[in-house]
Amino acid sequence: MAKILVIDHDPAILKDIEVNLKDKGYDVFTAVNGTDGLNRFIEAAPDIVILEINLPDIHGFTLLEDLRDEDENVKVIMMTADHDMDTTIHAMKAGAFDYFRKPVHGDELVVAIQKALKARDMEKRIDALLMKSPRLFKAGDIIGTSREMNEIFKTIGTVSQSKTTVLIQGESGTGKELIAKVIHRMTSPGEPYIGVNCSAIVETLLESELFGHEKGSFTGAVSRKLGKFELARSGTVFLDEISEMSLNLQAKLLRVLQEMEFERVGGKDRVKVNARIITATNKELKSLVEEGTFRDDLFYRLNVVSIHIPPLRQRKEDITPLIDYLLAKINLDLNKQIIGVSDDVMDIFLRYDWPGNVRELENLLLSAAVGAKGQILVKDDFQEFLGGFQKQLIAERNQEDISETGIRLTLDEVEGRYIRKVIKESGPRTKGEICEILGISRPTFERKLEKYGITFERE
Ligand SMILES: Nc1ncnc2c1ncn2[C@@H]1O[C@H](COP(=O)(O)OP(=O)(O)O)[C@@H](O)[C@H]1O
Ligand SMILES: [Mg+2]
Repeated sequence: MAKILVIDHDPAILKDIEVNLKDKGYDVFTAVNGTDGLNRFIEAAPDIVILEINLPDIHGFTLLEDLRDEDENVKVIMMTADHDMDTTIHAMKAGAFDYFRKPVHGDELVVAIQKALKARDMEKRIDALLMKSPRLFKAGDIIGTSREMNEIFKTIGTVSQSKTTVLIQGESGTGKELIAKVIHRMTSPGEPYIGVNCSAIVETLLESELFGHEKGSFTGAVSRKLGKFELARSGTVFLDEISEMSLNLQAKLLRVLQEMEFERVGGKDRVKVNARIITATNKELKSLVEEGTFRDDLFYRLNVVSIHIPPLRQRKEDITPLIDYLLAKINLDLNKQIIGVSDDVMDIFLRYDWPGNVRELENLLLSAAVGAKGQILVKDDFQEFLGGFQKQLIAERNQEDISETGIRLTLDEVEGRYIRKVIKESGPRTKGEICEILGISRPTFERKLEKYGITFERE
């Protein structure tokens, strides 16, 4: 039962309020002056104080400060007969929860008390949450308590003892680049880390990006340029989206890895490779080898040690620690004090599929945090996301196999189910390949995904 302390010099008013509040089920204490009031406050530790500004011994504002020194979360409702704008403003500024002009109507007071109790509850929850995660995170931490992530931490430890080549596989947003950077930091701190995205550069340029070129080796090569392998010195070259490298360039990379030496484009000098090579892909490289779009000999060279990061939906226990971590990061960036998500949001997060993995979670929290009013992110802060989540639920419900007999389906339903089936059963195929199977164009495919609420992240 909530405890309320009422401090007023007028015994009749005290009695009035006491009777009214006891009637509503509150535990009521009273005091007729400030000194008495402060003592009772310390003894009884009430949740709420109702305080008259004009007291015989101390000014109400002074007492307000004393009370807040004792318990900074105490909710004080102030009242006075002689009110004016200044006192009202001053009272609120000094931290009063509410302010009333006498005579105070009983019901009005009860409403204010209920509001104050609610606010106090919320603050208590926030304190509890803050106690729970006092840990300070470092930038660049890899967060995860799941068994899978723990195995990855062990592998990172092992590969950091040498400069073996590492292949990191995982869906987009699972933290491949993050892991590459950590391996680099653990193995060769202080040396350069050079990242190259193989899908972002056209083939002819990629070769000179990687290996450099001599002056005049092709039109536009106005001076000698060092490639990434040279620039990385004894550090790390991170080749992202390695599956997108052309077969021609794959052959060249293979030779470099075999000989640990190369020539700049248009040059004759042999340059030694001292850097460690880490590659990453969001495709199953092994199946690309089987399809013939990736060289098997190169695959074995790259796959000396492989790290497979499972998608977030397969390690849902990482979601909670990730939220703590990502919010700490977001708070720093936005100068906010968001400490968590509400329980109903958490329930949804645990049921959601996270096709964009940790990156999706991070972006979602960030956009919610920007507009959030409270310290806890609630459903209202995630309007747009919740729409997408609904679609996932509908999609799940429609997931039953198309060959099921005895049910009546509209043509649209059949189409939706068939598209889902093709996506599901074509494993790591690209969007282009799936369009080919379905015999439709990319834009049509995109429209149908949208129409049937199907999420599909692959390129
Ligand atoms: N386990 C993790 N702990 C902390 N942050 C992570 C984790 N996994 C991913 N992230 C964050 O998610 C975002 C996407 O990660 P990134 O390494 O770019 O993924 P990928 O290269 O696999 O697409 C980055 O901001 C990264 O810091
Ligand atoms: Mg990446």
